[in-house]
Amino acid sequence: NEIKIFSPATVANVSCGFDVLGFCLDSVGDDMVIRKTDKKGVFITKIVGFDLPYETELNVAGVSALAMYNAIDVDFGFEIEIYKNIKPGSGIGSSAASAVGSVFGMNELLGRPFNKTELTAFAIKGEAIASKCEHADNLAPALFGGFTLVKSINPVQILEIPSPSDLYATIIHPQIEIKTSESRAVLPKEVALSDAITQWANVGSLVHALHTNDYNLLKDSLHDVIVEPHRSKLIPHYNDVKQASLQAGALGCGISGSGPSIFSLSKGLETANNIKEAINNVYAKTGIEFDIHVSKIN
Ligand code: HSE
Repeated sequence: NEIKIFSPATVANVSCGFDVLGFCLDSVGDDMVIRKTDKKGVFITKIVGFDLPYETELNVAGVSALAMYNAIDVDFGFEIEIYKNIKPGSGIGSSAASAVGSVFGMNELLGRPFNKTELTAFAIKGEAIASKCEHADNLAPALFGGFTLVKSINPVQILEIPSPSDLYATIIHPQIEIKTSESRAVLPKEVALSDAITQWANVGSLVHALHTNDYNLLKDSLHDVIVEPHRSKLIPHYNDVKQASLQAGALGCGISGSGPSIFSLSKGLETANNIKEAINNVYAKTGIEFDIHVSKIN
């Protein structure tokens, strides 16, 4: 009647794949407890770590849970406890972890009536209240694991993309908050055709590189000519971090989701740790608090 789950952090966009690509981290995430109750409805009963709303309709985990609850017919309810480790507004899928965790846990307690694609559709409703728009590029890797591509959100269609076994991510999280809704507001409504061509060529080649374990092509594809020029201005010392990371051997470096976190991809744990040290040296001088994680892509 109760399940404890780990809901992982994720990196969305992955440079060229705005709103489409994402991958799952194995070292950071939230813990949640979902419990059946006699009382009908969905109730958030405990939140530890950050100050988030208890009202079900205002809470990301509550909204996705309600979307699922309204699609089933049961004579009991659910309680949700959230032990939040992923700071909201950090750019590594904090809202997605909440949105996914509640529906994943409920589905387990119900005997898995829904598949992961259906769970994504419920979770989109929760994610939407955090970012003021519907997207699934953090939800999909949190639910499916590994690398994913959101082919469409209406209807939900998620592609699981294989990735090389020694691919690592180094993530620096400067302790400033950037709300997804705000960092979406700085983006242009229209893009130049020449930029669009570059961007979709990179998305295609990145996916091909992941399928073929082609690290050279991966390195050549991790570029973003549409979103990064606008959003990087919101992140202090972004260019210094990127430069240090590439010098330390990163395949690519970009904004994690809507920022302020910055991710670097690398081949092998040793390079990932070298990047950690290089970007640590950059940020240690800034006076801004930060933390850095190294994670396998899983
Ligand atoms: N694709 C989204 C964005 C992810 O970059 O706005 C953040 O929620």
